[in-house]
Amino acid sequence: MSTRETWGSRAGFVLAAVGSAIGLGNIWRFPYIAFKNGGGAFLIPYIFALLTAGIPFMILEFGLGHKFRGSAPKTFASISKKWEWLGWLQIGITFVIGIYYVAVIGWAISYTFFSLTQAWGNAPKDFFFNQYLHLSSSPLELGSIQTGILITTLMAWIITWGVLHMGVRNGVEKISKIFMPLLFFMVLLIIGRTLTLDGAMNGLQWLFKPDFSKIMDYHVWTDAYGQIFYTLSIGFSIMITYASYLPKKSDINNNACMTVFINCGFSLLAGIMIFGILGHMAAKQGVGVDEVVSSGVGLAFITIPTAINTLPAPVFFGTLFFLSLTVAGLSSLISIVQPMVSAITDKFGCSHRRGVALICIPSIIFSIVFTTQGGLLLLDIVDHFINNFGILFCGLIEIILLSWICRLDVMREHVNAISEFRVGKAWTFCLRFVTPIVLGYMSICNAIGDLSANYGGYSDKAILYYGWGVLGILVLLALFLHNKKAIDSNYAVVDQSLWR
Ligand code: ALA
Repeated sequence: MSTRETWGSRAGFVLAAVGSAIGLGNIWRFPYIAFKNGGGAFLIPYIFALLTAGIPFMILEFGLGHKFRGSAPKTFASISKKWEWLGWLQIGITFVIGIYYVAVIGWAISYTFFSLTQAWGNAPKDFFFNQYLHLSSSPLELGSIQTGILITTLMAWIITWGVLHMGVRNGVEKISKIFMPLLFFMVLLIIGRTLTLDGAMNGLQWLFKPDFSKIMDYHVWTDAYGQIFYTLSIGFSIMITYASYLPKKSDINNNACMTVFINCGFSLLAGIMIFGILGHMAAKQGVGVDEVVSSGVGLAFITIPTAINTLPAPVFFGTLFFLSLTVAGLSSLISIVQPMVSAITDKFGCSHRRGVALICIPSIIFSIVFTTQGGLLLLDIVDHFINNFGILFCGLIEIILLSWICRLDVMREHVNAISEFRVGKAWTFCLRFVTPIVLGYMSICNAIGDLSANYGGYSDKAILYYGWGVLGILVLLALFLHNKKAIDSNYAVVDQSLWR
């Protein structure tokens, strides 16, 4: 068997992990969630989630990848032959995320070009839905492929494929060393200019003004945990895979803390950037910031273009903003595809480059569906189900397996033996009690919510096909791949040390 590639430097690994963590979620999800859930007061549940789930889980996943030196399916198979399906389920989830995430990057690329002329004119909403997406009225009506979206989506794929083709050290690591500093630079540049504008400070006050009454509401806490899992890319195979390329001597605990703090620091910067811009727009329109704020697709492709129209240097702001979104998205997309490549090369013994092609080709084909007129509606449903059930469920099973069925103390010893500072009983406590209780509770609430009413008011058929149906297919696929024989008889030698 060929030896596993390793990262060229510690900084390279941390930047790649940060590149995975920092993505669309930081820019369009965090600011809104923080605002909605008590502004400055939200930092309490957020930091609590970061300390009790984010850092402990990140250390655990880095430790797993480092110990078993394999993709998620190989790692779980090395713990028990019965558990390989969990790794494949996580791989299935990254596949689905990848095929819609790329479409959003495609839109961001289009909008980078549109920013040069503010092609959206005076009606950004009409432009986005009707002239750009040509949105259909139902997710079951996919309509035709939109050539403009297809072209930019393919551009995102070409970059991703090209980077992955070069390998972990020469591709992912090198591009992360360019992308991450560039991203911070661009966002700081936007912030620097924004804060001098009328109303920007008022926008920040809206974001950070603490409303402590909100933090008594449990939704705020589950939102904080959900955001931490999504933003840190934990629980769905990415961090296990990235850590599997670490050299033997690696400071796991420090690297995990650095990744988490840099990512969450960036989220705060993104919040300042977004609310600075919104504050200025609200001042120009003479309304409160709460009247203009939004999240997700609406924020990036409707509210921000509307705000850009009111800014003094629209080309500067527009291109930098959408370029930042593109760069943040691409570095996450690369990390979403790499675990799949690693999984099939580990199990089926193909070369890295072949593995990249074998993953990229079907991903490209499937992603075309998101470039159709119904693409956004389809994306909305798939994203909801993948986040609310897929990621959460996999994270919950993973944590129960490792902290209740296996010996977590063995993992603790493993990470402590190679790290500069040690984690103690608090780490074990968070992983055994706090995280599973919160994740379990969230899963139950989500299941009740989705079983009692169709998400987003979509039809039964749409929810059945694109929500439950997609999840069902992922489970079947995971079981199928679990049962496939690996090419190498030493594929996953079970490590008894984790068993009681
Ligand atoms: N962690 C990535 C994001 O925040 C997936 O978008």
